[in-house]
Amino acid sequence: MEQIIVPKGLDGVIVDDSAICTADSETGQLIYRGYSATELAEKATFEQAAYLIVYGRMPSAEELSGFSAFLKANANISDNTKKIMALMPKDTELIDLMRSVVSLEPNNGTKTDSILLEIAAKMPRIAGDGSRILKGAETLGEIEGGYAERFYYLLTGKKDSTSAKYLERLLILYMEHELNASTFALRVTASTLADPRAAMTTALATIKGPLHGGANDQILNYMVKMGTKGDAVKFVDDKLARREKIMGFGHRIYKKVDPRAQFMKGELKSLSRMKHAEKIYEMAVTIEETVWDRKKLPANLDFYAALCMYMLGIEHTFYTPIFASSRAFGWSAHYMEQITNNKLIRPDSKYVGYRGLRL
Ligand code: COA
Repeated sequence: MEQIIVPKGLDGVIVDDSAICTADSETGQLIYRGYSATELAEKATFEQAAYLIVYGRMPSAEELSGFSAFLKANANISDNTKKIMALMPKDTELIDLMRSVVSLEPNNGTKTDSILLEIAAKMPRIAGDGSRILKGAETLGEIEGGYAERFYYLLTGKKDSTSAKYLERLLILYMEHELNASTFALRVTASTLADPRAAMTTALATIKGPLHGGANDQILNYMVKMGTKGDAVKFVDDKLARREKIMGFGHRIYKKVDPRAQFMKGELKSLSRMKHAEKIYEMAVTIEETVWDRKKLPANLDFYAALCMYMLGIEHTFYTPIFASSRAFGWSAHYMEQITNNKLIRPDSKYVGYRGLRL
């Protein structure tokens, strides 16, 4: 069989068809199942967008209420799971706890799409309870409301529909992004016909890395140290002089503009006005402009997402778990798409090691 050598990191390589999502590097447009993702963020609820991603079309009113009820009914975790969380070392990273907990449960015999959605529905509770249990604090009870309101409550202990709406828009933008690293990893696992829980565990393990979902957790580290625009410019110049990466910048697909980042930039502007913290917005824009000026790299979603979550009073340890919880719906759609038209994903490598050595 003829072999094809592709660029490192599969950069620019199309490996399969997908009807779930496309991100256009030229136009900077992100499409979920035919709809603009930013329009969905503006006008849809989390449940509507999740239904669309998973089932491929917008739900009817009846389908939406059934789906919302399903997510709510499956949002809780067992006492046994909580006991296991309590046995974990107190300094366990939350995303590691989520990965461990998701992998622990047995695969019961229900339908594949139900198992995927049951796992996805529990993620906010795993993150919220997990964080509190690691700190030795009491876990929170349930509140009424949609997915985003319930999630915001688990993250902050506050019932606040305005903040929850900001979170909801971000969650919609985090939900899906075609063959990003965690989704591709999930599809590799799915292609072996491993069960949904195994595939979700793979995805949770992959999203952790700082070049992927872990980036959002590191942005505050540098942002909080800045007092003036001069500090922001110096920070960028120093980083680039040391040839270090600045988290929250650059993207494999978007070379000019990440539409999700620009949407969240608007959200940050509005939040910083509301909270009388305009300086954070100004500093962020200075960093964005300086990185573009020096290196022609656009801000990615994580840059503005991290700052918005900070403004919403959400602890930084939750940032990657929030991303993962929402992306779990994208992962669910990809698992189903992979097994519906499956071929084992198993590339070759070009051997560059020794040959002919003798013992
Ligand atoms: N800060 C500084 N330089 C960066 C950079 C960043 N955030 N992102 C890319 N670059 C530079 C690279 O050093 C490289 O420069 P060179 O050609 O002089 O060596 C060039 O831009 C190309 O980058 P590369 O890492 O090869 O591109 P990629 O498509 O493989 O990587 C990312 C994309 C996202 C992994 C990369 O931009 C990155 O590491 N960003 C920071 C992490 C992050 O924010 N991740 C969240 C993504 S949504």
